[in-house]
Amino acid sequence: MEGIVIEKMKESDLPAVLAIENVSFPTPFTESLFRMELNLNVAHLYVAKKESRIVGYVDFWRVGPEMHLITIAVHPEFRKLHIGSALVEFMIDNAKTHRVEHISLDVRPSNGSGMALYEKYGFRQTGLRKGYYQDNQEDALVLGLTLVTPLDASKPSKTSNSGQLEESADEKKS
Ligand SMILES: CC(C)(COP(=O)(O)OP(=O)(O)OC[C@H]1O[C@@H](n2cnc3c(N)ncnc32)[C@H](O)[C@@H]1OP(=O)(O)O)[C@@H](O)C(=O)NCCC(=O)NCCS
Repeated sequence: MEGIVIEKMKESDLPAVLAIENVSFPTPFTESLFRMELNLNVAHLYVAKKESRIVGYVDFWRVGPEMHLITIAVHPEFRKLHIGSALVEFMIDNAKTHRVEHISLDVRPSNGSGMALYEKYGFRQTGLRKGYYQDNQEDALVLGLTLVTPLDASKPSKTSNSGQLEESADEKKS
């Protein structure tokens, strides 16, 4: 979608984020949970804005070579306009920049829009968590995307671990 800007999430964004969260999930994250995420070094939260209005967000954890998608949502009025795609592409770019080797996520098998979004970017099922969702005991599919081939992995890393840690700490300053 034209005119979408992706920016770091700030505490002042939370009312708009929670408004989307509350209409997007049967058991939404609470404000205090988002506040905890915003203060966690491994968590990276971004909002998608259209004409200064928050229309979506993503939260992913990055720990060494692993990334895990915590949550992603788009305002119902702005769905199917490729904003979710922009957020997933942003996450994958961030993973590549930081030499992440694998991205994982959990999704309900009944979540058609989520499945379509992840499959579009090559995520494939790697596991199953039986009865994972507490509201209806639905299973969770574990999906994964591997970013480096064994050949890539054998190449020496250009980014030192300490460099990555310094950058993460910087990113959390908002
Ligand atoms: C999942 C979600 C983030 C997708 O956001 P979005 O901005 O609508 O996604 P996009 O427009 O980028 O769509 C991505 C692809 O999925 C397809 N898609 C989106 N919604 C779909 C649906 N309901 N059924 C089938 N396909 C769908 C799109 O057609 C698109 O494919 P294309 O690029 O080949 O046309 C959004 O539906 C949402 O917020 N859902 C509620 C929260 C949620 O379920 N989050 C995921 C938790 S695992």
